[in-house]
Amino acid sequence: MILIKIPATSANLGPGFDCLGLALQLYNTITVEPDQPFQISLTGSYTDGLPADESNLVWRTMCHLWELLHFPTPSVSLTLENYIPPARGLGSSSAAIVGGLVAANTLAGSPYTKYELLQVANTLEGHPDNVTPALYGGVTLSIPTTEGILPRVLTQSPNFKAVVVIPNTHLNTEKARGVLPPQVSRKDAVFNISHVGLLVEAFIREDFSLLKEGMRDVLHQNQRAILLPGLLETIEAALQAGAYGAALSGSGPTLIALLSENSQQAVSQSMLTTLKQYGVNAQPIVLDIDTCGATCG
Ligand code: HSE
Repeated sequence: MILIKIPATSANLGPGFDCLGLALQLYNTITVEPDQPFQISLTGSYTDGLPADESNLVWRTMCHLWELLHFPTPSVSLTLENYIPPARGLGSSSAAIVGGLVAANTLAGSPYTKYELLQVANTLEGHPDNVTPALYGGVTLSIPTTEGILPRVLTQSPNFKAVVVIPNTHLNTEKARGVLPPQVSRKDAVFNISHVGLLVEAFIREDFSLLKEGMRDVLHQNQRAILLPGLLETIEAALQAGAYGAALSGSGPTLIALLSENSQQAVSQSMLTTLKQYGVNAQPIVLDIDTCGATCG
């Protein structure tokens, strides 16, 4: 039996659109029992609407890797235990892809390195900012190069916590990307480039006083506010309540604040209250940062 544990992830962290991300201690697991009749069982907190047949994303990803490896598809029994809420900006589809790749690679005798799995995961997901932290853990930067995605772990176990405030509504990434203009001004590009620089410094130096300014963005959050009433106001409320920094998590609708242990109560409450003023009900969860990415035991 193989057990894969894959962390939730939060992408962008404000200005790092499609390149920055971090892994969170909230997990989906995949249990694979080899040499069993094919079947998929879904358990955990999120099973509604997920297929338990050959169209399942974890299974399709496993088959895709075996095809690439020219490895004959084995008959296996899968149990998928889901605790990462789907379509909320916490990397549930990346977790399915990364988990499927790690599972299939393990069953094939681990011919691919983590770096090679990242390249496949990026092709399947379309952007690397969730799959990189899901594979490597910590806070990551994904750099598109001519040879593929270069993953950099900026800090593996930063000394902060994250509050994720998860609205009751779903938002798919395609829709959230659809509201973004195809071109950006030079002024806005410079704003985000400089802020990502500051964020990288904040993580590497562990100087979290830089996160407040570093997590500001002009490329996607303002534009996405039409999809989530109170988005910008909730980020400001988190900062006022003492968060180091706050942002939309991935393409939303979840919001994330990075903070010290002693401000978690005040920040969660302030974010919830602000969202509620805009008619949005949400659930807060305080999480630590995952330090190792997907594991296989
Ligand atoms: N960076 C993506 C976006 C989400 O903001 O659309 C996660 O890959």
